[in-house]
Amino acid sequence: MIFHPVCATIVQFEQAITRLTFVAEQHPLSVLLFTAVLFFSLCWVVEPYISGAPLFRDLSFDDYSAEEPPHTLLDVPFVPSDEKSVDAMLELAALGPKDVLYDLGSGDGRIVVAAAKDWDIRAVGVEMDPLRNEEAKEYAEWVKVSHLVSFVEDDLLSADFSEATVVTMYLLHSVNIELRPRLLNELKPGTRVISHAFDMGAWRADERLQFSGVNIYKWIIPAKVAGTWEWKRADGKVCRVELEQEFQRITGKAWLDGKEVFLTKTKLRGDELDLSISDCEDSYPISYPMRFVDNQLRARVPGEQATSAIRLPNKTT
Ligand SMILES: C[S@@+](CC[C@H](N)C(=O)[O-])C[C@H]1O[C@@H](n2cnc3c(N)ncnc32)[C@H](O)[C@@H]1O
Repeated sequence: MIFHPVCATIVQFEQAITRLTFVAEQHPLSVLLFTAVLFFSLCWVVEPYISGAPLFRDLSFDDYSAEEPPHTLLDVPFVPSDEKSVDAMLELAALGPKDVLYDLGSGDGRIVVAAAKDWDIRAVGVEMDPLRNEEAKEYAEWVKVSHLVSFVEDDLLSADFSEATVVTMYLLHSVNIELRPRLLNELKPGTRVISHAFDMGAWRADERLQFSGVNIYKWIIPAKVAGTWEWKRADGKVCRVELEQEFQRITGKAWLDGKEVFLTKTKLRGDELDLSISDCEDSYPISYPMRFVDNQLRARVPGEQATSAIRLPNKTT
């Protein structure tokens, strides 16, 4: 006789039920225990879905704040940077052993802790929400980097971050723009500023990373070099430049022994200024690699520049 596959399944099912009934009659207590375990396991799996309880760590942080909002009004909600972005931000910062990193709006402390753990540097988180700061401290303890990190409960718009050599932020465009003058005026030239997702408007980034739809921006705090500078060349001639500055962009004019010449290149990166000047239109320009130190422009390499450039007082005409 040829058996249809559906008939075979029905027969197997009937046999299984018969076997189960037999086991239930022989061992009624075991079956009761098995049913109870199955029931409670199901409840445990399904309960979070029906009660709305958080399934993930980050979600539970958000619920925490929603239930008990901070007394102060936050300028940016808590949205943590993902691990790939944190790694990319720290890589782009080009961290060295002497760096001190400040994360403005440090949330659960993940950037601060990663800087200490992966780069062995001192790092400070500035965060207004005390609950986040508690989370961050616990996390740092767990990762065993408490000796390298601190979390300050403060408003990032007014907190002192002037000791930083690297600043990281994941804020909003409007908050970046509000912070911009403080970053430019209070941080030392050469300090790196790294922002996740948001730029700084007219202050163009020096570098940018892009991956999976994410932008990471890097700025280098430019020295303030606008003004008139004068120095002596190795041949005794006097160079003078008048420089104008908009963030890291430099434009200007140059003179050699009082005669106007050509300023062919200007490049400012942190405290390093590179100028190139040629005597006449078709002559090869001479380069002046300088460093801004103590309000002077010192030659970075010995050569054509015999003296440091001194800033001349503004003309009052
Ligand atoms: C988008 S989260 C970024 C968290 C963390 N930096 C990261 O990238 O994972 C912004 C954080 O800034 C904090 N924040 C918002 N306004 C602030 C303010 N005025 N002062 C200090 N922290 C603030 C929020 O509580 C939140 O934790």
